[in-house]
Amino acid sequence: MHELKRGGIAVIDYGSQYTQLIARRIRELGVYSEVFAFDGDADQINRHEPAGYILSGGPNSVYAPGAPQLPGFVLVADRPVLGICYGMQLLTDALGGRVSAASEREYGPATITHAAQSPLLDGLQPELQVWMSHGDRIEALPPGFKSLARSSNSPQAAIGDLERNLYGVQFHPEVQHSAQGSAILSNFVFRICGCLAKWSADAFIRDAIGSIRAQVRNERVLLALSGGVDSAVTGALIHRAIGDQLTCVFVDHGLLRKGEAEQVVAVFRDELGMNLIAARAVETFLSGLQGVTEPEAKRKIIGKLFVDTFSREARRLQGVRFLAQGTIYPDVIESAADSKSAKTIKSHHNVGGLPDDLRFELIEPLRDCFKDEVRKIGLALGLSDAIVWRQPFPGPGLAIRCLGEITWQRLEKLRAADAIYVDALRDAGLLRRGTAQSFAVLLPVKSVGVMGDNRSYEEALVLRSVTTDDFMTADWARLPYELLAKVSAQIVNEVPGINRVTYDITSKPPGTIEWE
Ligand code: XMP
Repeated sequence: MHELKRGGIAVIDYGSQYTQLIARRIRELGVYSEVFAFDGDADQINRHEPAGYILSGGPNSVYAPGAPQLPGFVLVADRPVLGICYGMQLLTDALGGRVSAASEREYGPATITHAAQSPLLDGLQPELQVWMSHGDRIEALPPGFKSLARSSNSPQAAIGDLERNLYGVQFHPEVQHSAQGSAILSNFVFRICGCLAKWSADAFIRDAIGSIRAQVRNERVLLALSGGVDSAVTGALIHRAIGDQLTCVFVDHGLLRKGEAEQVVAVFRDELGMNLIAARAVETFLSGLQGVTEPEAKRKIIGKLFVDTFSREARRLQGVRFLAQGTIYPDVIESAADSKSAKTIKSHHNVGGLPDDLRFELIEPLRDCFKDEVRKIGLALGLSDAIVWRQPFPGPGLAIRCLGEITWQRLEKLRAADAIYVDALRDAGLLRRGTAQSFAVLLPVKSVGVMGDNRSYEEALVLRSVTTDDFMTADWARLPYELLAKVSAQIVNEVPGINRVTYDITSKPPGTIEWE
């Protein structure tokens, strides 16, 4: 249940792919911010008196039949409003201005220049690089408004009614391509809305502990712990809130990275003292996956076996009412669960589809957080760097990085190569900076090589490293050639069965980060 904390910024969602980024940029400024559906419950949005509203962009045209509307309270609340793109057009339309289809769509980088003094653009350079993405544009401003900035294509790139604190921008200040976007959001949040920078990982933890306790009371909670950052931080957070009322189940399916299963038990059971059940199910998973090569089939089988194994352990525990999940925001958007306009890309693996006799209420304390925020929360909870700076790892594990048929021998090959690669990146200081996710992928493709005087005919390995902030788009990391050379030589020399190493230079889109 969303509840905006007092003095934060409510972001109203009109379906832009960047909506969550707006909230995240504002949290980066130290101000609490959350996203709400445009047709969400007004009382819920306003219960804690937001300091201002931001209306997101969206794919619609304000005049299209059924186009999402401005909630009534936005204009009567007497609070500052910033409309971004579609949000600006809505504001214009609602206040008596006119919006029309532009003769040219404006998409991509643009330069804007100031047209008038305003607190929104105060202190910024005279020329700003921004990211545009819109078809419609403002034809006539509503009474009381003036243009604050113009681009070559639109005389109203930024508009405002300074008396009433209503603003609109035609571009997207939340994306990295808008160089001074954060400064614009900062002006809105601090100068116009008068917010105080109070949001921090500690504040998040304090609030989350309060909500978890209020929700759980004296009931029991179950968590599937994968050892990845998200479930680890979820576990530590809930454990901090309710201690022994939390039981974690760790399913060891044999698809983990080198040394990972042992580490999960050592950290969570031995160091943190959490109730942890380690269910070993390697043989079950390997036999279930035998002969399966199709990516979605692999995901489905793993999902089902995971649920079976997890359910068996859950049934042994009596009286559990809640199931906790380490869902974070990119999981939500990629699974298209929360936005009416998003599309499903891959069926993400989570503890979905539990049998009918296992009905739990869900707890997802990190649902609105991005990965870097989760890490900050993890560190503030006292988790070690080794856990918090773990490489992100997909639920189906190495199965979707071991292309083709999965056998124990191929998994071991992949584990060994992956460990060499990730260790080399860590030694070079490239795990925390320079790459966001790095791993090896084993291909079911054999090629000819020469080892000593002998011909070899072995499988090929791909190294993949990407840079990204949010995992929704990504670029391939420009790693030093020397590092790639060293890793390639070490893998071919030390891992039997691999005689060729390649580096993946595909960005997302059009690629995805994982290969399956
Ligand atoms: P893609 O391959 O979709 O991956 O670009 C984006 C991010 O999501 C991770 N990923 C998953 N995480 N369950 C998860 O929990 C999954 O089924 C899954 N598939 C991909 C991937 O590792 C990357 O960080």
